[in-house]
Amino acid sequence: MNPLPQDLSVDAAAALLLSGRLVAFPTETVYGLGADATNADAVLSIYETKGRPRFNPLIVHVADLAMAERLAEFSPLARALAARFWPGPLSIVVPLRTWHGLADIATAGLDTVALRMPDHPVALALLRATDRPLAAPSANPSGKLSPTTAEQVRRGFGGKVPVLDGGPCQAGVESTIVAVDGDSIVQLRAGALARQEIETAFGRTVSLAAQGAKISAPGMLLSHYAPNAAIRLDTAPQPGEAFLAFGQAPAFDGEMRNLSPSGDLREAARNLFTMLHELDATGAKMIAVAPVAETGLGEAINDRLRRAAAPRD
Ligand code: TXA
Ligand code: MG
Repeated sequence: MNPLPQDLSVDAAAALLLSGRLVAFPTETVYGLGADATNADAVLSIYETKGRPRFNPLIVHVADLAMAERLAEFSPLARALAARFWPGPLSIVVPLRTWHGLADIATAGLDTVALRMPDHPVALALLRATDRPLAAPSANPSGKLSPTTAEQVRRGFGGKVPVLDGGPCQAGVESTIVAVDGDSIVQLRAGALARQEIETAFGRTVSLAAQGAKISAPGMLLSHYAPNAAIRLDTAPQPGEAFLAFGQAPAFDGEMRNLSPSGDLREAARNLFTMLHELDATGAKMIAVAPVAETGLGEAINDRLRRAAAPRD
């Protein structure tokens, strides 16, 4: 591989992103580890690079409200929040449009997405240059502190990730995440925009998401993409069940998908949420899932499968 450019320009960073590479970029909150959110392989690299054992839904960054509205449906209240606080450290959870174009792995298979327009000239220039939504969690190895300088990002990843340097971040903590539920605003994650500021601007109380509530931030709570079908793990299918295979699959004449016939974990991760959706859509009552190796990305795949299989009410 070529050595990484030291002084990355916005155009060079955009070209890397469009070719499926990761680029760390500055925002007003923290540095983000960015990928083209429409490219499943690129988004997977985020998890591999961070060493993240779980597929959390990621925040998707947009250049403006128009790009956001091409991806998701904004109620009048959601639109008013964006109009008041964007660009800025507020991520808004909104229902995806049918043809949104985002990789399922970016939203962890949910039918909503957390969107934000960052208030940083370099981030906005990058979003305009790529003209793509960019998925970006904080640019640190999993379990380490969120970086607020380009130097911290370089050190964190041992110089392996190209970094677009935009100076130190102003806020230093991640964005506030809210969802809109009818007439009410629910805060899912406290962050750089104080809840009181939203309350003052909108003249209403912003409630906190209750544990296990209908609307929740999946990264913070156990609840996650839950198929309608029940799920049995590490098993072979019974007649009448749907089957999610991995690697060499037994002959089975029911509904079946194979995460990766060759046993490739990256391919399996890319297919995971899409195939769960597809099997669920067959109306099967039970989805049997073959064992998936626990190494590498297998850890995240198994984490998500266990969550999907967990008892729920
Ligand atoms: O300040 C920030 O928000 C930084 C910078 C880089 O912009 N980004 C960031 O992204 O913190 P990330 O991807 O680490 O945040 C992901 C969190 C998830 O753990 C989850 O809590 C919430 O965003 N989230 C994402 N999609 C969601 C959804 N559809 N519904 C509810 N919560 C969601
Ligand atoms: Mg983080």
